[in-house]
Order: sequence, then C-alpha cells, then structure tokens
Amino acid sequence: MPGITAYAGFFEIGSPKKGDNVFVSAASGAVGQLVGQFAKLTGCYVVGSAGSAGSKEKVYFPEGIDIYFENVGGKTLDAVLLNLKVHARIPSCGMISQYNLTQHEGFLLPHIREGKVVYVEDIAEGLENGPAALVGLFSGRNVGKQVVVVARE
Ligand SMILES: NC(=O)c1ccc[n+]([C@@H]2O[C@H](COP(=O)([O-])OP(=O)(O)OC[C@H]3O[C@@H](n4cnc5c(N)ncnc54)[C@H](OP(=O)(O)O)[C@@H]3O)[C@@H](O)[C@H]2O)c1
Repeated sequence: MPGITAYAGFFEIGSPKKGDNVFVSAASGAVGQLVGQFAKLTGCYVVGSAGSAGSKEKVYFPEGIDIYFENVGGKTLDAVLLNLKVHARIPSCGMISQYNLTQHEGFLLPHIREGKVVYVEDIAEGLENGPAALVGLFSGRNVGKQVVVVARE
C-alpha cells in the first residue's frame, strides 16, 4: 500500500521532471522513504525532513521547490508554501502532525475557527424546487453553493 501511495502521489500528481527540486516530509516513514528514492531515480534534487523540519526549506532550496510531497502538514507546510516556485505541485498525501490535535496549526484553519472565513449556501426548500434551482445555476441566480433541502429533521 505505501508503494502505491508513493508512486501515485509522486508520479501522477507531482508530474516530476529531471532537475526538479523535491522536498519530502516524514522522509523516513513508509511512504516518504519511497518517494525520496523515486525522485532520485527521476534525476531530481531531493531533500527529506525527519523529526522537525523547522524552516530549513530556505537553506536547501534557494531557487524554490517544484514538488512538495506532503506527509505532515502544520508548520512544515506553512514554511514550504513560502518557498514554492511558480507552477509547483503538492501531492497532499497526509498531515500526520495534525491528526491528534484539538487546536490545528497552520494559516487557514485558525481563521476558519474564528469565523473569519465564511461559506455561503443558497438553499432551495423541498425537492419540488430542485429543478428550478438546477436551471438557476446557468443564469447565475444562486449566490454561493446551491443546495436543495429534501427534509429537515
Ligand atoms: N493518501 C494515502 O493514501 C495515504 C496512504 C498512506 C499514508 N498516508 C499518509 O502519509 C503520511 C505518512 O504515512 P506513512 O505510512 O509513511 O507513515 P509512517 O511510516 O507511520 O511514518 C510516519 C512518520 O511521520 C513522522 N511524524 C509523526 N508525527 C509527526 C509530527 N507531529 N510532525 C512531523 N512529523 C511527524 C515520523 O517521522 P519523523 O521521524 O520525521 O518524526 C514518522 O516516521 C501520513 O500523513 C499518512 O496519513 C496517506
């Protein structure tokens, strides 16, 4: 399973090219150890982090990162985002640093929790109003995500 995950994430989503700068987090884990090897075989420049990554991305990638194979999330992801090249790819495999937290790290989630990011839904009541709601999508009648409430319980 980790082999398929590493292969699909790196080759299908990462679209690596010879000479790309690749950063792999949790590089000593089941998935990361394979991604690092696949990247080397493809002729990429590869750096992996194990333990805490800190902000070493700046040191190892003065020209920026083409592919970030994401395994940990949190502060590592924040540091990487500031060091990406234009058209960089991020196979988002996992965010293991976040799974057991009650308060998530990173830039966006705290803002979402504080209500600074809102999500608008345009609600049509009843299945009988579904067809009109669907047609309305093509004339821009909805504001936000159009949903149809079938039943409220
Ligand atoms: N999308 C998929 O289909 C799929 C499939 C398998 C796995 N995954 C995900 O891929 C990631 C890696 O999985 P894996 O199977 O390679 O895991 P693994 O072999 O269990 O290794 C996990 C590694 O994560 C690092 N880690 C743990 N807690 C951390 C933290 N708080 N901050 C930073 N690093 C931490 C540890 O490495 P250090 O030595 O660096 O601390 C550990 O070696 C996980 O996020 C997992 O959920 C996704």
